[in-house]
Amino acid sequence: MSTERTKDPNRVLIFDTSLRDGEQAPGFSLGVEHKLMMAHALKDLGVDIIEAGFAASSPGDEEAIQTIAREVHGPTFASLCRALESDIDAATRALAPAKNRRCHVFLATSPIHREFKLKKSRSQVVEITAKAIAHAKKSFDDIEFSAEDAIRTEPDFLAEVCIAAAEAGATTLNLPDTVGYTTPKEIFKIFADVKAALKDHPDIILSAHNHNDLGLAVANTLAALEAGARQIELTINGIGERAGNAALEEVVMALRTRPDVYGLHTGIDTTKLAHTSRLLSRATGTVVVRNKAVVGKNAFAHESGIHQHGMLSNARTYEIMNPEDVGIEKSNLVLGKHSGRHAIAKQAAALGYELDELALGELFTAFKRRADEIGEIDEFELMSLLTRSNADKDDARLFKITSETTRDSVSITLDLFRDNGDPLQVTASGLNAFEAGFRALVDAYQIEARVNDCEIIQSGFTFDGGAFAEISLQIKGEVYRGRGRGPDPVWAGLRAICDGFEKYVFLHDRKMKAQNSDSGKIHETAR
Ligand code: KIV
Ligand code: ZN
Repeated sequence: MSTERTKDPNRVLIFDTSLRDGEQAPGFSLGVEHKLMMAHALKDLGVDIIEAGFAASSPGDEEAIQTIAREVHGPTFASLCRALESDIDAATRALAPAKNRRCHVFLATSPIHREFKLKKSRSQVVEITAKAIAHAKKSFDDIEFSAEDAIRTEPDFLAEVCIAAAEAGATTLNLPDTVGYTTPKEIFKIFADVKAALKDHPDIILSAHNHNDLGLAVANTLAALEAGARQIELTINGIGERAGNAALEEVVMALRTRPDVYGLHTGIDTTKLAHTSRLLSRATGTVVVRNKAVVGKNAFAHESGIHQHGMLSNARTYEIMNPEDVGIEKSNLVLGKHSGRHAIAKQAAALGYELDELALGELFTAFKRRADEIGEIDEFELMSLLTRSNADKDDARLFKITSETTRDSVSITLDLFRDNGDPLQVTASGLNAFEAGFRALVDAYQIEARVNDCEIIQSGFTFDGGAFAEISLQIKGEVYRGRGRGPDPVWAGLRAICDGFEKYVFLHDRKMKAQNSDSGKIHETAR
């Protein structure tokens, strides 16, 4: 590890364990390709140490660590090991290609783990620790020892194990809150006491590794830093065992946003946080909740009129961080049923519509009706309201559904009403009502489309009963989102498809008109 980093007393080392503790939790497992992709992203993010896996846990993990150690350059790479020679040997093999390598040995120290898991006495735990570190010393200069369940370990014994580990050659000592049990005040004292006990080993770096079972992992990590920890073990999006680990993006942004409180800094390029979070979410197939701190979809989004008004005057009224600082392009003033006239008029103006009081009043009424119906009003939706293409349509007039179900298929007949009021009837069948309805609508609109994904929320969970659907359609290589509400999921889903198709038709017509007027201009110049 670079001595530059450790010489600065206010520099905090970031140890990322997304690819080990994060990956070992249900729902987050990653194959070699995805691990490698994430290791590149973590390196770009600027983490100091990447725990790439647990070499002895499977041949696949040993191979993944080796591939990462060979192909990613810059950070220190670590592999977790039990206090067993065979685990340390597996880590030695896996990390051989890395320039900077760390052996991370762990052994439980708490009474409950000693009695029920290890069936070992205090002195045996001390002896195994020292022996394992001595073995690691044969292949590694950089050795981390983790006293598993340190927080529930008797303070005098924790100090004894830490001193033994330091004397045996460990360079970093990690005091994990393995079960997410501690509190900020308590962890502060534990770290302060161990630091004092290690007064004869001033070069040892203390590390914090906190689980989030009580939702305190980030707060506990910050408290450990205040007590003297200079390495923190974190994961992207807070993934990890059970409720996860302390989220990297949250701790790093807390340090950056409150230098007045902590006075500490990291080597993280925070502008890559949102991208790294999205990458991990895609690799694991797990969605980041909208209200997730720092990287959630709502972290820089505002819908309520009062908040939008404040944001338009001065972003600091409702935002403590700049979205660009975490890699989000800009704050998002979402239009929805809570938005006020001011924000709607501003968005309309951005689309080229300067509205007088009367026009704004009419738009406002149509806007609120549509927002009650579908929730969020995006740019396309506002455009259709402005051009009246959707404003006075309601679902009852849009279509009537008749269906017939047999053992193998469902047939649906849709009675649609075109813009000019002429009726149109289309019938199609499919494996289920939604598929049949989709085919019928493809026929009615004469648009070739594919459904990318569709989310339908059933009654009881929507704003005013019934069902709500949001669909993503692929049409001629572009994505169109549609939203719809209805008395049941099929109705809502088909309404969302119509909505997506209408957006396509609207934008397609606009493009054609623009092209025609452009070619007219060329024609005129040529004459
Ligand atoms: O939570 C924990 O105790 C761990 C150690 C193995 C570091 O993940
Ligand atoms: Zn852990």
